[in-house]
Amino acid sequence: MTSHPTSSHPRAAIILAAGQGTRMKSPLPKVLHPVGGRAMLDHAIDAAEALHCERIVVVVGAHSPEVRDHVVKRLGEDAIAVQDPPLGTGHAVRAAEAVLGDFVGQVVITYGDVPLLRAADIEPVFADHEGVTVIGFEARDPGAYGRLVTRDGELLAITEAKEASPEVLAITACNSGVMAAPVGLLFELLGEVKNDNAKGEYYLTDVVELARERGEPTRAVFASEDSVMGVNAQSELAQAEALFQKVQRDAFLAAGVTMPAPDTVHFAWDTEVGGGTHIEPFVVFGPGAKVAPGARIRSFSHIEGATVATGAEVGPYARLRPGAALGEKVKIGNFVEVKNVKMAAGAKANHLAYLGDGEVGAKANIGAGTIFCNYDGFFKHRTVVGEGAFVGSNTSLVAPVTIGAGAMVGSGSVITSDVAPGDLALARAPQTAKTGWAAKFMDMMRAKKAAKG
Ligand code: UD1
Ligand code: MG
Repeated sequence: MTSHPTSSHPRAAIILAAGQGTRMKSPLPKVLHPVGGRAMLDHAIDAAEALHCERIVVVVGAHSPEVRDHVVKRLGEDAIAVQDPPLGTGHAVRAAEAVLGDFVGQVVITYGDVPLLRAADIEPVFADHEGVTVIGFEARDPGAYGRLVTRDGELLAITEAKEASPEVLAITACNSGVMAAPVGLLFELLGEVKNDNAKGEYYLTDVVELARERGEPTRAVFASEDSVMGVNAQSELAQAEALFQKVQRDAFLAAGVTMPAPDTVHFAWDTEVGGGTHIEPFVVFGPGAKVAPGARIRSFSHIEGATVATGAEVGPYARLRPGAALGEKVKIGNFVEVKNVKMAAGAKANHLAYLGDGEVGAKANIGAGTIFCNYDGFFKHRTVVGEGAFVGSNTSLVAPVTIGAGAMVGSGSVITSDVAPGDLALARAPQTAKTGWAAKFMDMMRAKKAAKG
């Protein structure tokens, strides 16, 4: 449970996202790369919001207007601080000072490239309202991380690996980078930070020793190494994704979802699946999917921005796109694509169809190969199929068009005007028969072939 900050202890977050991210080797800025279908930066903002931070400032570099635009869209102009040029983590935090203005309270510093850190992991840094608190972790391979130098459980300093003695390098307790302090203290200390170090940067980590010199309390709280992992390269993005998926799968299994091969099922950050739903191997959920309890999602289906009700069956090889809303006991079979179509209870489209923009009434049956022709090259139009209607195979429904309740459409029809309830519509060339023609033709051809030898 997240405790709510009292009004006497307001919270703010400064999210650092000014790094270049060159090791990603991607035209997309690093922090906009997705984990679970959501930009890493949005995961960091989600955590800050879940912590009830009343101010959130994202420090962006001058080199990535896309990051700036992304933040402005979600949080507004007031959330932007620009660090130009980047001169270290301490310098980055200082860039947010003016933007925080007259804010009074606790500030937590987090990172746009640390996507797995949840509000619950960060919450302990707010337990004290004075001094400096950092989140540490026990590193399997401490490598280049800053080391937490402690004595009797007290945090004395954070020493960057490049500045560390062999003795300090042997410490496995490392700095995650996340830190909290009262806003006034934080910026006073940062004002004293110098760049006379191995990297020539202003280190945020120097505030620990500076705080101690003033007799301010300093301490570390600990989180798991996985939760604080930072992403610098594509391989680490893939690792973060794997950890994220593991958490999602375990949560769904614990919630009663049947998944015989969970490692082959891919969830988005906001996927909802009810207990008792059966998800077969190799199913992918994009953002915005909600599946009720007791549905079945068969193998190789892709579901994004869609809702699936109890008793509905999807796939194998089905694609549900945004706005697909399947009612109870709806059946969507193989190679059927549904986009922005509401299907009422018991409606079926079992094979090879495109249903885009419209609605299908209860128990209506859409035959194999049916296409909702929703786009005229300029505008999208709706197709409405009434309750209990039967649309024969290989039908083109040219929207806007309505098939009335209980109506039937003959196979192979191209329907361009509305069909009244209860009518049969046929819109195809009438069939003709030439008596005996085929038999005569085949005899003639066989004779020709025989004459050729
Ligand atoms: C930092 C910590 C180190 C910690 C490690 C955890 C410092 C001095 N060191 O080291 O103790 O173990 O993170 O990963 O803080 N950034 C900016 N502007 C800058 C510099 C950095 O926004 O001028 C952002 C980066 O985008 C990145 C984060 O701050 O997200 C960390 O910066 P990085 O240069 O990776 O710091 P490290 O040397 O890894
Ligand atoms: Mg780093």
